Amino acid sequence: MDAIVYLEPDRIATLPDDADLLRAERRGTGVGDVVIDVAYTGICGTDLLVWHGGLTRVVPPVVLGHEFVGRIADPGGSGLPVGTPVAVEPLLSCGECWACRHDARHVCRRLRLIGVDVDGGAAARVRVPAGALHPLPRDADLRTFALTEPTAVAVHMVHRAALEPGQHVVVLGGGPIGALVALVATHRGAGSLTVSEPNDARRALLTGLGVHTVRPDELAEVVAARTGGEGADLTFDVTGHPSAIAVAPEITRVRGTILVGGLFHEPPAVPLQVVTLREQILVGARVYTSAHVDEAIALLAEGAVPAASLITHEVAIADAELGAYRMLDQDRSAMKILLRINP
Ligand SMILES: NC(=O)c1ccc[n+]([C@@H]2O[C@H](COP(=O)([O-])OP(=O)(O)OC[C@H]3O[C@@H](n4cnc5c(N)ncnc54)[C@H](O)[C@@H]3O)[C@@H](O)[C@H]2O)c1
Ligand SMILES: [Zn+2]
Ligand SMILES: [Zn+2]
Repeated sequence: MDAIVYLEPDRIATLPDDADLLRAERRGTGVGDVVIDVAYTGICGTDLLVWHGGLTRVVPPVVLGHEFVGRIADPGGSGLPVGTPVAVEPLLSCGECWACRHDARHVCRRLRLIGVDVDGGAAARVRVPAGALHPLPRDADLRTFALTEPTAVAVHMVHRAALEPGQHVVVLGGGPIGALVALVATHRGAGSLTVSEPNDARRALLTGLGVHTVRPDELAEVVAARTGGEGADLTFDVTGHPSAIAVAPEITRVRGTILVGGLFHEPPAVPLQVVTLREQILVGARVYTSAHVDEAIALLAEGAVPAASLITHEVAIADAELGAYRMLDQDRSAMKILLRINP
């Protein structure tokens, strides 16, 4: 029953999740009355940020893992049969703030995440609330649906950006989120789509999926050529790097849209004078609505998002610290890394 536990800044450990150490200090093993046998848990930059103490609100010790799928071990109040395969929407909202009262609980002022603020799915078992469950088809290949959470992020971004069929789209950043935005936007009818990404391995993987990729230094010229000099209709920033969003206004057309999706660790410098003169629209996007989680599940089920091609590494939970977290921390050539728990 291993669990990946964040202990203090720069320190995670693989611990038996019934260790006395944890029982004594923890605020319980997650929240909610449904127990999930976790099959796969994806890792991403957010896990690395927690590990390095970059999210100051996080109170260790906490089990990591917000991207997970599994099977119901104890249905609690969910009414679902034992063994039902489920994806988990890891958002906990307060139910009282303006967002919660206006059908936008995913941007709750007091939003908390399973796997960040309370124990998550980088463990053999996790407790979650019934409302977090998204049942999957009985015969679901859980490895495929391990990408539900990041795919939902991409689906939500494409909705927030109000993509229209035929539009020229630029995606800044070809990490897992950029790759998923590119695939979802293509599926939703983007006319042309260009991903800008400096990492050779990530560009090669995307090129193999039929996505047009460029290096950041080629981007302006390619966008001009593809849009008759006008600029992109829609530009997604999914890098979190100030150097990427700094070019967004220049490569986006008059009255075009810039979707701001990356999480910046420092305030980026963006030439807002261009936004003014071109009457551009800046739109933020954070996580996803429940409906967008369901859309992500449908896209994975129909193969519109080819999960297997994006999963470049699968690591047993016992090897997670070195084989997954440290690996991704040192080299972002991997695309999606999954922890294999009870497949
Ligand atoms: N809004 C949300 O709810 C939400 C959800 C998940 C992730 N995110 C954020 O989205 C971003 C992407 O997530 P990810 O998991 O793919 O992260 P990632 O770090 O794996 O990918 C970012 C990519 O951007 C590339 N990049 C760096 N500088 C660039 C530049 N100048 N031009 C183009 N590309 C550049 C990097 O090489 C990397 O491949 C992160 O900032 C993450 O925190 C936001
Ligand atoms: Zn994530
Ligand atoms: Zn709220």
